[in-house]
Amino acid sequence: MTELEQFAAPGSEWWRSAVIYQIYPRSFADASGDGIGDLPGITGRLDALQELGIDAIWLSPFMTSPQKDAGYDVADYRDVDPIFGTLADFDEMLAQAHARGIRVIVDLVPNHSSDQHAWFQEALKAGPGSRERARYVFRDGRGENGELPPNNWESVFGGGMWQRVTEADGTPGQWYLHIFDATQPDFDWTNEEVKEEFRSILRFWLDRGVDGFRVDVAHGMVKEAGLPDYAPVADADSMGGGEENVPYWGQDGVHDIYRDWHQVMAEYDGDRALCGEAWLPTLKKTALWVRPDEMHQTFNFPYMMTEWDAAKIRDIIRESLDEFGKVGAPSTWVLSNHDVIRHASRLALTADSPQGDGIGPLSAGKPDPSAGLSRARAATTAMLALPGSSYLYQGEELGLPEAMEIPDEFRQDPTWFRTNGERYGRDGCRVPIPWESGAPAFGFNTTGDSWLPQPGEWATFARDVEQADATSTLNLYKELLRLRRERDLGIGSLVWEDLGEQTVAFRRGDLHVAVNLGDAPLELGDDVTFVVQSQPFDGTALPTDHATWYTKG
Ligand code: GLC
Repeated sequence: MTELEQFAAPGSEWWRSAVIYQIYPRSFADASGDGIGDLPGITGRLDALQELGIDAIWLSPFMTSPQKDAGYDVADYRDVDPIFGTLADFDEMLAQAHARGIRVIVDLVPNHSSDQHAWFQEALKAGPGSRERARYVFRDGRGENGELPPNNWESVFGGGMWQRVTEADGTPGQWYLHIFDATQPDFDWTNEEVKEEFRSILRFWLDRGVDGFRVDVAHGMVKEAGLPDYAPVADADSMGGGEENVPYWGQDGVHDIYRDWHQVMAEYDGDRALCGEAWLPTLKKTALWVRPDEMHQTFNFPYMMTEWDAAKIRDIIRESLDEFGKVGAPSTWVLSNHDVIRHASRLALTADSPQGDGIGPLSAGKPDPSAGLSRARAATTAMLALPGSSYLYQGEELGLPEAMEIPDEFRQDPTWFRTNGERYGRDGCRVPIPWESGAPAFGFNTTGDSWLPQPGEWATFARDVEQADATSTLNLYKELLRLRRERDLGIGSLVWEDLGEQTVAFRRGDLHVAVNLGDAPLELGDDVTFVVQSQPFDGTALPTDHATWYTKG
């Protein structure tokens, strides 16, 4: 039996219960020393991930890209961008991960390409009505001379969703659609060539041995026919969560694409998996992405975005298990990723901060760092006891907070530029992570360069410091992951327990899990034996913002 086989629970596909660690390649580890992380950097640090005890890694995009949206603008889907290395570096990383029993999921960006993609460049040259333009969403403008965009849609990153082109003869021409930045033109997913191209891209990476794909913007690929006007409601989430009937989010037609891809995945051995990034208004709708013949997993963003409130957390867990259960899919769980404020800060914000706005030097409601870290550790302690698959984001195992003081001149997120600094965007969760407290760039590389500046206080979060501290966040994660595997917590069901309104409490077999979100300590009784504490505490009363796994009797 290979190591990979041992990790899969018998009779159950690996992705049903896996803990999947998101690597944001530009900020994980930088072997070349140019200040941007790379694939050889990842390979060099795989031992640390094996020690952590995760089952799989998901890599944010490393394909050829002008990096206008940190790689989510792909110019060549079948090659590695030189800043990250080469295809040979990828193969080596994959082989080394597999040798350690770690599966590898890569990010696929099918909603849009980079404007530098050969197809888009051909489309610009070919002109209106051409086969080349039909691969993207080109339309004539409104107004007497086509000077107005085809509709009123607004980009997720701010500003309009249409960009006008200059035709080959120098005249102002058609407009193309871009849900995100103007450098990210949307494909037309009614086009057969686009469909065939992506089947082939899937096969390219599956043939290389990847275990699955995280599918970017899996709720946006199909637009409502006729592209009708639509204005988002004021408090709507920029990625579509919370809004019903948006003409570019969650259209029924996307499901045909995933049914098609499901077949492609099934041609391969080893339970290859699709995980959709779909921001949808309800869990009921989210579950449609993981019906038996579609994707295997989808991120649970409603859970991620739930505030620190016991009743709301209980409800969202219950609803997640229900709704995913109805379609025979595992629920997934996630608290942080490269698009949201790190949960060690987010869970203690005292002002609203919608997804994508980020938090910066002038933001209101900045979190208290110690409350944030307590809540983050407690939240993760609960999450890793839940049945289903969990996603971790690099650096959360160190308890990293959001970097909130990045000077303006370093900012890179297109959101910052497209809103003239009104929204800080997502740079604060993307800062290169610390490995060694005393080394240049905290061990991110050996030169000290870093594409975003690392806060000085991150020395205390460095992996070597935490490794040596039995009570560190890193050692908590390791213990949770070890016990989760030992007790097979990723599969099965839970039994709710009632320990009061301000508590989230449930049982997994003889293991009790409790999180105290109230103001007062919660007495658990004399007969408790603590298996894990989210942070060390004395006695038998669970303090505020703490969680524990325990047995009784
Ligand atoms: C997804 C990615 C995000 C990116 C966007 C456009 O939401 O997670 O980082 O900016 O898609 O590709």
